[in-house]
Amino acid sequence: MSISTAEQDFAAALKSIARNPDIKSRLLQSPELHRILSRAARRFTAGDRREPAVGTAAALAGRGYAVSLEHIGENTGSEPECELAVQEFSRLIDACVKQGLNSRISLDLSHIGLSLDRGLALRNLTALAEKASAAGLQLFVSMEEAAKTSSILDVYREAAERSANLGITLQAQLPRSLGDLTLLKDAPGAVRIVKGAYQEPEGVSIPRSGQLDARYLELVGLALEQGKQTSIATHDRNLIREADARGYVRHPLAELEMLYGIVPESARDWKESGVSTRIYVTYGEEWYLYLCHRIAEHPPNLYDAVTDMIRGGSSVLEAY
Ligand code: FDA
Repeated sequence: MSISTAEQDFAAALKSIARNPDIKSRLLQSPELHRILSRAARRFTAGDRREPAVGTAAALAGRGYAVSLEHIGENTGSEPECELAVQEFSRLIDACVKQGLNSRISLDLSHIGLSLDRGLALRNLTALAEKASAAGLQLFVSMEEAAKTSSILDVYREAAERSANLGITLQAQLPRSLGDLTLLKDAPGAVRIVKGAYQEPEGVSIPRSGQLDARYLELVGLALEQGKQTSIATHDRNLIREADARGYVRHPLAELEMLYGIVPESARDWKESGVSTRIYVTYGEEWYLYLCHRIAEHPPNLYDAVTDMIRGGSSVLEAY
């Protein structure tokens, strides 16, 4: 789906502002501003804590959706903080078991050590994959900025050789993803195809356009041809319709996956039409960047965000 230049400029500006640590700390250090902004985040996350998030995921599962859960975080700056993140994911797995919830667990490798040391990230990913595997759950690696793609794939490939329950996300906006997927042909593991959320330097990524949509469909088609369990992770109605017309959406290895709080009525319609549909639920205190990305992707969300800030946050669970 093509969007206007003004929207692309707005998205680029907001994503850059979101990455500015001074602006972030100025906004979040004020308790009042923190409280107001967190109301806006409520539309897209299941709150700060694990229990309500697992509750939200369980409620969605009760309505016939598959679910993913992520404790939001990235670029963790010290080993003790990485250890805390690993503990949280470990407790999340325990909580899913306790709840009898067959949730996919998703994470950023830089949340569990990649920004510090490749070996640390690999050890932590392997340990969590083993724990998830023992619990019968799948562990999925998200894709971050293009500068990290090679190291993420490298760690993923090594971990996937040891654990069959892993999956990796590939961004259609990166021209290299086609080659990366081809190289994953014989590697075990599932894939999730996304357009890509990160603002990359000029020339590194394909902007939102017909060209990007064509590449997206090409990746989905190739992943299915390779026999991979494939998540078609997008909210783009036209793109999903085209994927459906090509037989991808109802393919036995495919599913639709959408972020919690975004186009819930569309998720419901697809689920009710018999398509396997997964909702990706996030939680945690690091919601700032996540909120900025969700507004940048769809500028009208800014109006909802302002309304939420003034009137108090709203849960969208009922819309599913
Ligand atoms: P696009 O942004 O072109 O939007 C198409 C249409 O969908 C819009 O016109 C609007 O109607 C609707 N829409 C999209 N976003 C919306 C929003 N925020 N609010 C309301 N409507 C909206 N990215 C990444 O870089 N690494 C990752 O690991 C992941 N992981 C991931 C998992 C899952 C399950 C999903 C669904 C997405 C991701 N992403 C991601 C994010 C992804 O790259 C992308 O930024 C978003 O999905 C938005 O892109 P769309 O494909 O929806 O299309």
